[in-house]
Amino acid sequence: MTSRRKIFIGNWKMNKLPQEATAFCEAFIPAVKQVTQADVGIAAAGVLLPALATRFRGVQWYAQNCHWSANGAFTGETSASMLKSVDVCGSLVAHSERRQMCGETNQTAGQRVAALLNSGMQAVLCIGETLAERDSGRWTDVLQQQLDEGFTATGIKNWTAALGNDPERPLLTLAYEPVWAIGTGRAATAAQAQEAHAFIRGWLTRTFGPEMAQRLRIQYGGSVTLQNVDELMGMPDIDGALVGGASLKAEDFAQLVLRGAAAKR
Ligand code: 13P
Repeated sequence: MTSRRKIFIGNWKMNKLPQEATAFCEAFIPAVKQVTQADVGIAAAGVLLPALATRFRGVQWYAQNCHWSANGAFTGETSASMLKSVDVCGSLVAHSERRQMCGETNQTAGQRVAALLNSGMQAVLCIGETLAERDSGRWTDVLQQQLDEGFTATGIKNWTAALGNDPERPLLTLAYEPVWAIGTGRAATAAQAQEAHAFIRGWLTRTFGPEMAQRLRIQYGGSVTLQNVDELMGMPDIDGALVGGASLKAEDFAQLVLRGAAAKR
């Protein structure tokens, strides 16, 4: 039996105006109150975060990006300490949409992870291969390179200290999000996702040893819905979900979280 505490995060991407976000929270938070065995979070657009995070304490609030510098001439960017000051607990890092559209690299991803961890905040590092990379059989090479380069770029030497003191909630979570499954309605099968998660955990074991590898949580993301959440979350190396489209409706996302948190593995 796996003891890792599951983590579910809704990634709203560039959706919801303040009123819509408030209405969502008023329905969603009471509906997931009984979920005590898993962490539940929402990654919202930066402009929404201060009002939501200070008002709604029943979920953990995440940014969708965070700069690696403490402050300075970085127009359009937001630092970890700015996020922390408005009760945001952490940030997604290197989502594939940012890798594809905003020039995110493994190098910058690692630097962002380091800034968050050094501020005692959660980082959710997203990795995943494209369809061409999967079809050509190179997907393990791609994941390995994303992990090798991303972790090296953090510059972190003492991972035990960097992951924080909460044994159930290490500050770093990995999110396996195959690009071909994001927003396509074509989720990885539970077997495909488990195979990739086992590969990632194998990399962690070789790099950091079994203790850290068993402790770190690996979320799956890409077309997770009410229809496939039970099967995906029943897999031994899948420790939660990062949910895009299916996180936009409060009732549906609440059901998804309840089902996913209850799935036995
Ligand atoms: P979808 O759930 O819409 O496929 O998006 C997944 C995702 O990108 C979460 O970060």
